[in-house]
Amino acid sequence: MEPLVVANWKMKLGVSASRELATELKRARFNGVEIVVCPSFVNLLAVVDVLKKTGVQIGAQNCFWESSGAYTGEVSPAELYEAGCRYVIIGHSERRQYLRETDSDVHHKVKAALAAGLIPIVCVGETFEQRQQGGQDYVLIDQTVKALEGISLLPPQQLVVAYEPVWVIGSGQAIEPAEAGAAHQVIRQTLIDIFPLSVVADSIRIIYGGSVNESNVKSFTALPHTSGVLVGGASLHPADFIALVNELK
Ligand code: PGA
Repeated sequence: MEPLVVANWKMKLGVSASRELATELKRARFNGVEIVVCPSFVNLLAVVDVLKKTGVQIGAQNCFWESSGAYTGEVSPAELYEAGCRYVIIGHSERRQYLRETDSDVHHKVKAALAAGLIPIVCVGETFEQRQQGGQDYVLIDQTVKALEGISLLPPQQLVVAYEPVWVIGSGQAIEPAEAGAAHQVIRQTLIDIFPLSVVADSIRIIYGGSVNESNVKSFTALPHTSGVLVGGASLHPADFIALVNELK
């Protein structure tokens, strides 16, 4: 399977910058790597338009759990699908931290995203304090179970779980690949407790996120049970991002 590289542009690019970056990515013609670009809501349509017919997929950075209704300010998975999205990031630590998003919110969003035909990218990860207290595995198991328990994944539905140690995000210093590997093993074992083994093997990918760049990307994608990376900072400049993707070809 091709490695998966998810670019999370966060709230960092306006519409013209998003269009320009998408245009550079279109020129780069990526082969052998699955790319998902996640602009902010207001820039989704512009980026969908630039990247149509390139094979680059588009993801949103969040969604609501209802499919339509009087929910001022929210965006439904069905709206995202119609706009051209095929992926959606759910439960990013920044949303858990600043928007008070709970495990239950994450669960409802994952369910709704799958029902709308989107592939959820569910983010899990411990804070520095939780790690210091030895609670890393507990947090990963707890977040994964609460997000996914009771959800069935029927072909062709797919899911991505992104392991992102919270304090590493945006720090410029990734964790040791072996540490990510151990976390992915915990997540995989938890997934096997929730889903049939064949579903875990065929329909769920685990990826790493947190200060991934062109120098370290390969050490993460080379890990067992690791299908790709979620990239923030290094996805914002075309040269950085293209160099990162080229490492995986
Ligand atoms: P980073 O962000 O690559 O800038 O650490 C990753 C993320 O938040 O998904």
